[in-house]
Amino acid sequence: IQKQPTLIFMFGATGDLARRKLYPAFYQLYQKNQDFAVIGLARRPHTHESYRRLISDTLPEQSGERKGFLDRFYYLSLDIEHPENFGVLKELSDRLDKQYLLQGNRIFYLSLAPRFFGLAAKNLKNAGLTETSGWKHLIIEKPFGHDFMSAEKLNNDLLQVFDEKEIYRIDHYLGKEMVQNIEALRFANPIFESVWNHRYISNVQITLSETLGVGERASYYDQTGALLDMVQNHIMQMIALTAMEPPSRFETEEIRYEKVKVIQSIRPVSAEKVSDQVVRGQYIGGMMSDGTEVCAYRDEEKIDKNSNTETFVAARFFIDNYRWSGVPFYIRTGKRMTAKSTEIVIQFKDNPKNPYFYHLNDAEPNLLVIHVQPDEGLSLKLNVKQFNETGNTMPISMKFCNNCANVGNTPDAYERLLADCLKGDSTNFTRWDEVAYSWSLMDSIVASWSEKQLPLDRYEAGSMGPVSANELLAKDGFHWWPLTRTE
Ligand code: BG6
Repeated sequence: IQKQPTLIFMFGATGDLARRKLYPAFYQLYQKNQDFAVIGLARRPHTHESYRRLISDTLPEQSGERKGFLDRFYYLSLDIEHPENFGVLKELSDRLDKQYLLQGNRIFYLSLAPRFFGLAAKNLKNAGLTETSGWKHLIIEKPFGHDFMSAEKLNNDLLQVFDEKEIYRIDHYLGKEMVQNIEALRFANPIFESVWNHRYISNVQITLSETLGVGERASYYDQTGALLDMVQNHIMQMIALTAMEPPSRFETEEIRYEKVKVIQSIRPVSAEKVSDQVVRGQYIGGMMSDGTEVCAYRDEEKIDKNSNTETFVAARFFIDNYRWSGVPFYIRTGKRMTAKSTEIVIQFKDNPKNPYFYHLNDAEPNLLVIHVQPDEGLSLKLNVKQFNETGNTMPISMKFCNNCANVGNTPDAYERLLADCLKGDSTNFTRWDEVAYSWSLMDSIVASWSEKQLPLDRYEAGSMGPVSANELLAKDGFHWWPLTRTE
């Protein structure tokens, strides 16, 4: 890793994300000689020492020497709504800058409710914290607004203080190994790129299924729902990478331009078509695959008994461009489904019914599956002649699984993304226009389903979603391919 001395301002320092993901990622980066100091900022009182203990508790038990790491963490109790506190922050940051020779490089990480983004940026600026002799990067977490208008307002607030190039919008799926691998798979393998279009691909299926319910995030989730929680960001990014044209150069802005073009070309969902294109679901009680009985969404703690929030969504999108004309992209995501899994299935078209190969049985379509998690790998389903005298074909699968090979842990998504931000590489963060087009598409869906009062279909916890999600594909003569493992 290229060393970049940096002072990190960690807003939301005692929050769930910081504890679950960020401190362990900082620790890994420190092990790789990354040079930084961190100021933890949150409302609740802590001393530097009690803050360091909180961080220590988030690290893996077997992790080695931690004192040198923990000593680089400082804490300041700060209320974002009180600008006068930012003066103390300035003094502390100037002191740490000198003490650790951090060259004025700064990351402001806002792990906060978005309603505080604008105010935090403004107060940082007014206190002189954004005027620095080095570079400054702002990292923000989703949700980036709740529709196009609110996202635009948020963005304009941030642009008062930071340039677009300094804003790093996190979509942690872009830090996952196999999501990053989509480009290599497509553009470094002529056997795929030559057939990657409407002439040879019949449909694409993207699944992000989860077994967990809403946990501690009930009130956020109940106001958000699966569409805005997962489709607006993670699924749109996966569609963009799967469908984009090869960039003219392998550079940040060129790649982002190609992604934007895809998102911009997804056909908006109209009220007339919404029931043919989108399914909403909510789970009722059921049994998960490990035998645990779980309650209905409406019975979860802190969820409104009459909640109409969708915990599952499936959709059929069309990308109106030359490459993808007429190819449905089916997506589905939900809580309390059968398995925790993320995969992209590329289904190829059948050969013309050649009597030589199809005289006895129908061969199955070729499938290329990109396994994002839990396995990180690929599988390719092909047909071969059965090893007997019938002459029938049978499907076989060629598989590769990186993390099953036990060759050591691949870095966590947050570790990769933080390392990218430290070195100033924003390729795997989303640019404003990507976010904006994605919100416009979501707005078209939300407006259409409220106009048509799209029903909320029930599904049993532990299942793969409501039956209506199967009908979405059946109308086109397709079905969801069952989730597979590479092992
Ligand atoms: C987050 C969503 O963005 O992604 C959560 O807000 C979801 O609701 C999570 O559980 C899933 O991420 P991962 O990495 O566990 O697949």
